[in-house]
Amino acid sequence: MNALKILLMAVLICFINSDAGAQEQLQQFSIVPEPELVKVMPGNFIPNSATVISYEDKNSQLKFIADQLSAKLKSHTGGKLPLRTLPGVPGKNQIVFKLSDKLPGMGAEGYTLDINSSGIVITAKQPQGCFYGMQTLLQLLPVNHGDVVAIPALHIQDQPRFSWRGAMLDVSRHFFTVEQVKKYIDFLAAYKLNTFHWHLTDNQGWRIEIKKYPLLTSVGAWRKRSLIGHFEEQPERFDAVPHGGFYTQAEIKDIVAYAQQKYITVVPEIDLPGHCTSALAGYPELGCGENPGPFEVKDKWGVFDDVYCAGKENTFKFLEDVFTEVAALFPGKVIHIGGDECRKTNWKSCTYCQARMEKEGLKDEHELQGYFINRIAQILKAKNKRVIGWDEILEGKELATDAIVMSWRGTTGGVMAAKKHHDVVMTPTTYLYLDYYQGAPYLEPLTIDGFNTLERVYSYEPIPSELNGDEAKYIKGLQGNIWTEFIPDFNHLQYMAFPRLAALAEVAWSSPEKKNWERFKGKMEREYNRYEALGINYSKSAYQVGFEMVSGARTQKPQMVLKTQSYNPEIYYSLDGTDPDQKSIRYIGPFNVNPDAKIKAATFKNGVQIGKTTEYTVK
Ligand code: ACM
Ligand code: ZN
Repeated sequence: MNALKILLMAVLICFINSDAGAQEQLQQFSIVPEPELVKVMPGNFIPNSATVISYEDKNSQLKFIADQLSAKLKSHTGGKLPLRTLPGVPGKNQIVFKLSDKLPGMGAEGYTLDINSSGIVITAKQPQGCFYGMQTLLQLLPVNHGDVVAIPALHIQDQPRFSWRGAMLDVSRHFFTVEQVKKYIDFLAAYKLNTFHWHLTDNQGWRIEIKKYPLLTSVGAWRKRSLIGHFEEQPERFDAVPHGGFYTQAEIKDIVAYAQQKYITVVPEIDLPGHCTSALAGYPELGCGENPGPFEVKDKWGVFDDVYCAGKENTFKFLEDVFTEVAALFPGKVIHIGGDECRKTNWKSCTYCQARMEKEGLKDEHELQGYFINRIAQILKAKNKRVIGWDEILEGKELATDAIVMSWRGTTGGVMAAKKHHDVVMTPTTYLYLDYYQGAPYLEPLTIDGFNTLERVYSYEPIPSELNGDEAKYIKGLQGNIWTEFIPDFNHLQYMAFPRLAALAEVAWSSPEKKNWERFKGKMEREYNRYEALGINYSKSAYQVGFEMVSGARTQKPQMVLKTQSYNPEIYYSLDGTDPDQKSIRYIGPFNVNPDAKIKAATFKNGVQIGKTTEYTVK
């Protein structure tokens, strides 16, 4: 062999090795969301029944975190590991939770995680950081309980990009039990999300006990029946099943405390001035006109004319009373007051509302909406709370200065608000509505509409390009929203949330330089295994095969490209309309297609088809 050949061989071996190394690392661990800095070191730490978990003395939060870790490690180490307080006996075989002020550049949510053969140290400024360090550590454990734990030696330094990392759950259109809501909170915590936006009231059900107004729940929490199918379908069809439920104040406190232990702030939403039929069903006098109503809790989806009367003082008295109870239940600073999709029809014909406009010098009903929102903001300010609302709260004259705007109708509202120096949370329908389709609609359960695949959610950049550096600081973060018109149960909710919550979390936590779609897809393979082990009903739509016609580079003949949103997919396809299996044609790259060819394709993993078969007829 001549020297050049030897050199080429060496380069080739290096290349193969480094590729194998990357593959191995991909297999060995995956952290979602991607940390700021990960240094892989040789060796690993293997906890055993003699491992001790230590935590900073007298810190009950760290004790709770240490205890959770001990419980999680139990199935790997054969028993719960003992806890000890620091300063203890320094020594090997310890997992240590420490607080330190000496972490330069690290915010309250950041942490460092050091793993070597003698133990693990998680350090943070605040217990919340230690909690996130623990979440990272949990992702380094084997997916299957009972497997021997060899935690790779690593140095991780990590903190979030955004301070508002949220997910919304609509419990009005379909009710979810206390246990289910807690499980949803667990899902958020595992991905280091820190805000649970709880959409508690809407036309189709009022879900929070208000002691002063019992009819809100005895009447407003129940509907007689629900629409079947899409709301644009005619004729309308209904089931004959009453639907409802609500959370008592004791249950709300329990959920809020549960979330707090997981460093999740609960932001309750009481939607106004529209989206309130369930309240009017109990208290019709709060509607417009002399003798409003009767109202019934809505049994179908959509936007309706029902609104609170903006002219009657009783409306504001009622809402002040409601918010007095709400504010006492939720220790977080921020309360969501809705503000979206308020039809102005009734206000236009209501003498009370028109008199209000005249008295306040409001030139139209949009300014009346602004007046309404600002009055509620004042009520909440007096209770030391701050309002957030959907971007329609920008309607009218000046919005209260400390109000936060949630940009959902695209990004325009967010841009406008940031330019006016309002804090903003980005949640545009076209990227972050997790109730939208995530795969080919003909293969998916019915949704309201829209198309937000895993890749699309992942691709979202929350800082709109229209903002300069100063304005960009007002973008506090982002949120995924799950409206539940078409999500009747918890199983289905998981299907909509997973795996897209993982993509959302990485957008919310990781810096743009750390985002990498190829790498993320690889990590998701391990996440899917974890979902399986945890019994999570996740969507496999990312394995669906998509079709793209291209022109052959040389021949200019039409060629077909097959792709999925999964890592290194093993795709098989047929050209004769038969369902593909592993005896069909294996896809290795673009192929020529004849006119009228009917292509069917599917992804396989370990000999089993994953995701549904997709089809495409060439035209
Ligand atoms: C919304 O989706 N109506 C905020
Ligand atoms: Zn009115």
